[in-house]
Amino acid sequence: VPARIKLDPDFRVGPLNRRIFGSFVEHLGRCVYTGIYEPEHPTADEYGFRADVAELVRELGPTIIRYPGGNFVSNYKWEDGVGPRSERPVRLDLAWKTIETNQVGTDEFLQWCQRLDLEPMMAVNLGTRGITEASELLQYCNAEGGIELADRRAKNGHADPYDVRVWCLGNEMDGPWQMGFKTPEEYARLAEETARAMKRFDEKLELVACGSSNRSMPTFGSWERIVLDRCIDLVDHISAHAYYEPIDGDHDSFLASAEDMDRFISSVVATADHVAAARKSDKKIMISFDEWNVWFQKRWEGERKLEIRETSALIEDVYDVEDAVVIGSLLIELIRHTDRVAIACQAQLVNVIAPILTAPGGVAWRQTIFHPFALTAKYAHGVVLQPAVSGPGIDTQRYGEVGALHATTVWNADAGELVIFAANRDRARDLDLTVDLGAFADLKIIEHLHIADDERRAYNSPEQPDRVVPKPGASTLNDGRLTGVLPAASWHCIRIA
Ligand code: AHR
Repeated sequence: VPARIKLDPDFRVGPLNRRIFGSFVEHLGRCVYTGIYEPEHPTADEYGFRADVAELVRELGPTIIRYPGGNFVSNYKWEDGVGPRSERPVRLDLAWKTIETNQVGTDEFLQWCQRLDLEPMMAVNLGTRGITEASELLQYCNAEGGIELADRRAKNGHADPYDVRVWCLGNEMDGPWQMGFKTPEEYARLAEETARAMKRFDEKLELVACGSSNRSMPTFGSWERIVLDRCIDLVDHISAHAYYEPIDGDHDSFLASAEDMDRFISSVVATADHVAAARKSDKKIMISFDEWNVWFQKRWEGERKLEIRETSALIEDVYDVEDAVVIGSLLIELIRHTDRVAIACQAQLVNVIAPILTAPGGVAWRQTIFHPFALTAKYAHGVVLQPAVSGPGIDTQRYGEVGALHATTVWNADAGELVIFAANRDRARDLDLTVDLGAFADLKIIEHLHIADDERRAYNSPEQPDRVVPKPGASTLNDGRLTGVLPAASWHCIRIA
């Protein structure tokens, strides 16, 4: 079936926000313990962090990492996680009903970020705690010496401030599952006053107010309005979270999950702009899509009922080829919205619904979803262009008709490289793609990689860690026209220079 992309370098969305290639480390299951951190592991560095995992994180290429939760943060006492390890208390984390040993805390995480050249994005507890604790954590992280909290940090081994720029004002405070769940009015007041206190310390901090936990929350839309009505002058971003899975076997809608993300982003932008308009303000609130992924939540419902236990495997989804295509398409959607999405974090980084899996004491490997993230993060630099995309539609139960071809293009003027990211979301039909390169007609194809497989349920494992990897795709370029075949349910990264 024919499908077409037409390019014009003058049609620009804006500069690509590289912070959309963020990830997330939560104290949940084995994300931290036996994930990034395992002192007994053969590859552990002098700080107890796994070097094999660090290597894969570098290859994955995230830019910013959110920490320490998630639901975990809403009952977390950050003070438990600093100071001599032998004196740190063992606590119950009631969010995930787990024993938390506190062997990793703020200093260990921030120093790990420094070693890997990752920007940290910290969340404060606005569930069971409030303004004082948030402001004290901020001072512990960012204050210059001479005050008690900065001196405590120095005593704990880090005299220099960490200078964390991005702070989340709580997590999913609209969700009844959250410790300290709040009405929008309650949260708006607390976020407002916490933001005010944090900005008194440093008015250039970037603050993220909690938005909705997903687009079907009962308060979606009004939550954002009420929160921003109070906080618009104090915060820079509002969060959005979304997880996707095939519901009742509906794989057509699942492959079109980016449609939900598109509607989510557009609604939040409209709400934020409405609040600004009503206040005669020009402020453009940006979205921090700080949790997104494929998550088979139905499978997890059984685990949720478990009793309190030691840290153990939780929600370790194994991803297949189709999941990787959806992840590639969700990244395309985030890029398409670069004018209003400032930050995005795939949730999470290791073991917990993650691109990287580990065996305790053993190997670490790349899941299928690792690949579209790594390729997109590696090659998407520069300016996002707005291509004209046309082709057949697919009928979906959840979203009606959506285009089978989903695509975006990023122009890296410094490298003279144009990258086309495309997904064929049709499960049954191949697309015969034609790209009219317009002013880019003189460029040549450097590489076309794709993720496609006749066996859509194929996945990677320690026995077959490279069962699903990007493979060369089929395209040719003649007279300013690129032509190629995008197999049914596939994702593509085509580099032209
Ligand atoms: O990422 C897993 C969980 O999903 C997070 O802790 C929470 O914020 C969300 O509901």
